[in-house]
Amino acid sequence: MADPVKVALLGCGTVGSEVARLLTEQADELAARAGAPVELAGIAVRRPDKHPELPQHLLTSDAESLVLSDVDVVVELIGGIEPVRGWLLSALHKGKSVVTANKALLAECSAELSEAADSAGADLYFEAAVAGAIPLLRPLRESLAGDRITKVMGIVNGTTNYILSAMDTTGSGYAETLEEASRLGYAEADPTADIDGYDAASKAAILASLAFHTRVTAADVHREGIGAIGAADIEAAKALGRTVKLLAICERVVDGEGGESVSARVYPAMIPRTHQLAGVGGAFNAVYVEADAAGELMFFGQGAGGAPTASAVLGDLVAVARNRVVGGRGPRESAHAALPIRPMGMTPTRYHISLDVADKPGVLAQVALVFAEHDVSIAAVRQRDSDSTASLVIVTHAAADSALQATVNHIAELDVVREVISVMRVEGEDS
Ligand code: HSE
Repeated sequence: MADPVKVALLGCGTVGSEVARLLTEQADELAARAGAPVELAGIAVRRPDKHPELPQHLLTSDAESLVLSDVDVVVELIGGIEPVRGWLLSALHKGKSVVTANKALLAECSAELSEAADSAGADLYFEAAVAGAIPLLRPLRESLAGDRITKVMGIVNGTTNYILSAMDTTGSGYAETLEEASRLGYAEADPTADIDGYDAASKAAILASLAFHTRVTAADVHREGIGAIGAADIEAAKALGRTVKLLAICERVVDGEGGESVSARVYPAMIPRTHQLAGVGGAFNAVYVEADAAGELMFFGQGAGGAPTASAVLGDLVAVARNRVVGGRGPRESAHAALPIRPMGMTPTRYHISLDVADKPGVLAQVALVFAEHDVSIAAVRQRDSDSTASLVIVTHAAADSALQATVNHIAELDVVREVISVMRVEGEDS
């Protein structure tokens, strides 16, 4: 058995306490798997006096000193950018490996973190940063390294998936469902990062970077949250055999001249109820991957929570310990492709548009003309009548998102259109 691998744990909340527990309770098993004892050398928490359950001799409030002490690996479960960024860079510069679940930090600073890891020959692992327990980043980075990934599309935020699933099941509105989710503990006291799509956008940046060997930051990801989704949108989706999901979509877009770019986007979209992602309910996560040789792959499981996320952290910790035992390091970050980021307006998407219109001759022709003016092709039209109004549902073929937005704005101005009931992108079916 090799010398112990000494671990500094930064943060001991829901996930950190599970990591500490498993490291202690499964010490022998983990040592046998890693080839060296994996020892907890210190735990940094803001208020040591608030943690009577932890071994008191390991606790400190001085995270910086712990990082710079005689430890081999830093496990970071605090979150946020500063001061964590500085601590992790110091650790990496000194050749200490880092395991982190910090998606916001990775989505903003992965270039400098991975460069620091490379120059010092240290490991940077972050499986827990996306989709909790689901082994997803290692498959993208390692198992699929020989393939050409074309698309990664997933449900990577459990809070919003819980809310949208509940709205679909009960027919309730957004505000009351969010309130219920908060009451039941499925939504945080401040759910902004989840419902406005920031959490999913950070995860999309990480996924796109790995899938397309290109640096993608959160600022490159087009982001829309679920705050504007109403019962009418859910109802409109249901009427067409679809359901609404907040999707993180990372796509390799090939233009007419064969030039490639990366589109990374997060928005609520309608998908067919028969799609693999449609059946993913409650707080679960699932990610669907398309690659040239592998074809379609699906990853499913618990995307959050103490024990599930700790599973991913410990998997990384064992990998890092194994690398240390053999004196090497794991695979490096690869950003060699450096593909340009495709702006959302130029990204091909499809829209579902549901309208209340006057029921009289020529209305459909007027509406159809607007689509033609913006060079948007209609895939399907459905009309339902009641008294003097009619509801018109239009699904388009793929067109540049900016053309679709312009079409919707133009249609809303038509005198014959009484109300635009629902506008939503459509994903998961052929264009
Ligand atoms: N807040 C996230 C979610 C979990 O609701 O899925 C952590 O990434």
